[in-house]
Amino acid sequence: MVNGFNSFWATPFRITQWKDFGDYSEKIISVVKEYDDTITSQTESVNIAGLEKGLTTKWYTYNFLQSNHPSIQKLREFIFSEVNTYLEEIGHNDPNLYYQSWANLLKNQEILNIHSHAGSYSYVSGVFFVKTVESSTKYFIPLDRRIPGVEDFFETEIEIKNIEGGLVIFPSFIEHCSTPTLENLERITIAFDILKEAPIDRFHNSFGQRVIDRF
Ligand SMILES: [Fe+2]
Repeated sequence: MVNGFNSFWATPFRITQWKDFGDYSEKIISVVKEYDDTITSQTESVNIAGLEKGLTTKWYTYNFLQSNHPSIQKLREFIFSEVNTYLEEIGHNDPNLYYQSWANLLKNQEILNIHSHAGSYSYVSGVFFVKTVESSTKYFIPLDRRIPGVEDFFETEIEIKNIEGGLVIFPSFIEHCSTPTLENLERITIAFDILKEAPIDRFHNSFGQRVIDRF
């Protein structure tokens, strides 16, 4: 059947933990709260993954990991190093990449509905867990095997427990969702996309914001 390399329907994930997270967790949480206080009140919400308000709906206005705060620089170093390892592992070698990143602060049983990060030039995505209790993320098979009319039925799903200090990297086309945030508990994550180009589309630049930087 095959001459040369084949990897039919392979969907490589990388799941790791940041061993120094304990040294920076409180600082990172305070930076996210600062963003939540300022950015959430400043700009217009754009509905995303079922959310109508809150920090996630302002993702298009900033590039979180570009922050100069020392704790965020450390987080960026960890995430970039892991992404580079992932790219090596899947055999991708492209020196001209871009990235966008944002913070999610979910409260009062909010959830992120099923979505993917597929979009102009986005091919690798990831999520880092800053604060989470008893939650997980479900990732779905990329082939459309849904029963017509049953929107949230999937043939196959993989549920990965969310761990504080944990990072999951996956192809941008993989659809995923979060399980509900427990009552009165916050969940904080940092998400990002690695892009082949800096796209000019309504989700990135045409809101008048510049949020893509060189990876
Ligand atoms: Fe996502």
